[in-house]
Amino acid sequence: MAYQFEITKTEHPKAKPDQANLDFGTLFTDHMFIMDYEEGKGWFDGRIVPYGPLAMDPASTVFHYGQEMFEGLKAYKTKADKILLFRPDRNAARMNASNDRICMPIIDEALTLEAIKALVKVDSDWIPTAPGTSLYIRPFVISTEAFLGVRAAKQYKFIIIMSPVGAYYKGGLAPTKIYVEDEYVRAVSGGTGFAKVGGNYAASLKAQQKAYAKGYAQVLWLDGVERKYVEEIGTSNAFFVIDDEVITSPLTGSILPGITRDSVLTLLKKWGIKVSEKRLTIQEVADASKDGHLKEVFATGTAAVISPVGELGWMNQSYIINAQQIGPISQRIYDTLVGIQTGELADEFGWTVEV
Ligand code: COI
Repeated sequence: MAYQFEITKTEHPKAKPDQANLDFGTLFTDHMFIMDYEEGKGWFDGRIVPYGPLAMDPASTVFHYGQEMFEGLKAYKTKADKILLFRPDRNAARMNASNDRICMPIIDEALTLEAIKALVKVDSDWIPTAPGTSLYIRPFVISTEAFLGVRAAKQYKFIIIMSPVGAYYKGGLAPTKIYVEDEYVRAVSGGTGFAKVGGNYAASLKAQQKAYAKGYAQVLWLDGVERKYVEEIGTSNAFFVIDDEVITSPLTGSILPGITRDSVLTLLKKWGIKVSEKRLTIQEVADASKDGHLKEVFATGTAAVISPVGELGWMNQSYIINAQQIGPISQRIYDTLVGIQTGELADEFGWTVEV
């Protein structure tokens, strides 16, 4: 089915930013997509309008009980001027897993994809092309019903905004210093850890601030029950290279099923590198580091793609990884993923979707 979205163009287009100095997520394009939902009517009136503030009732349940989910994906412009999205079908599917977990209505995945494409087309001249830049696309759903009782709302908005971005971490691919968090936890099985809901991120801020205050860039989360298994790094999935094996946490409900995570697993398997989705304790990581077996640690996510870790801080001890240099596996994955995303490398997995 082909979807038609009414388009209202802005009369006040903004000046485009300097591509050499793009931060992450501070500037927004000229337009946004909005669609409404009402119980009994379903989703309706998908439209593209000038980017701007929303007028909302202060009793809207999102402000009180946090029915909110978001996604993140990127658009790239190739040298031949084609626009590519990276595995957007995965975002559309994960969006519904998140919607379902917090009792928000699911959205036809084909519609989500068409809405993203339509908005990217309207603001296509906002896609930066300097190395390390992209157009970050942020679809999200909020509950808008004005009601103070606690139950799933009957009205929602699905919105997509976009932001031309540079590197997520200021230092780009420079290895980061990560604090192993042993007080706060991010998620437990049965909770919302696998869903991309705002509440997970609000709950993570305290630990992030603690890490910043100690001079670290992010936290490494341990599991919420035994507090000994490594789970995620900040808002990203975590990978550990011990000898010739690459290890990441299995998807047991507390881990976000990252699209970059899945792509990394696929690439490693294709390259004949041993990969395991298995639980790994922080003690095993520390021992491997002491014995010289810990070769690389890296985080994966849409925003940062690959973020190498140069140092782990745990129990007042510092573990230096690969002499604080990016390792060969991290570098190869980064080059390959970005190469595919930007159309510089052949896409043998059929991951990119042309707009
Ligand atoms: C991602 O890297 O995919 C993220 O979710 C980061 C985002 C919260 C900025």
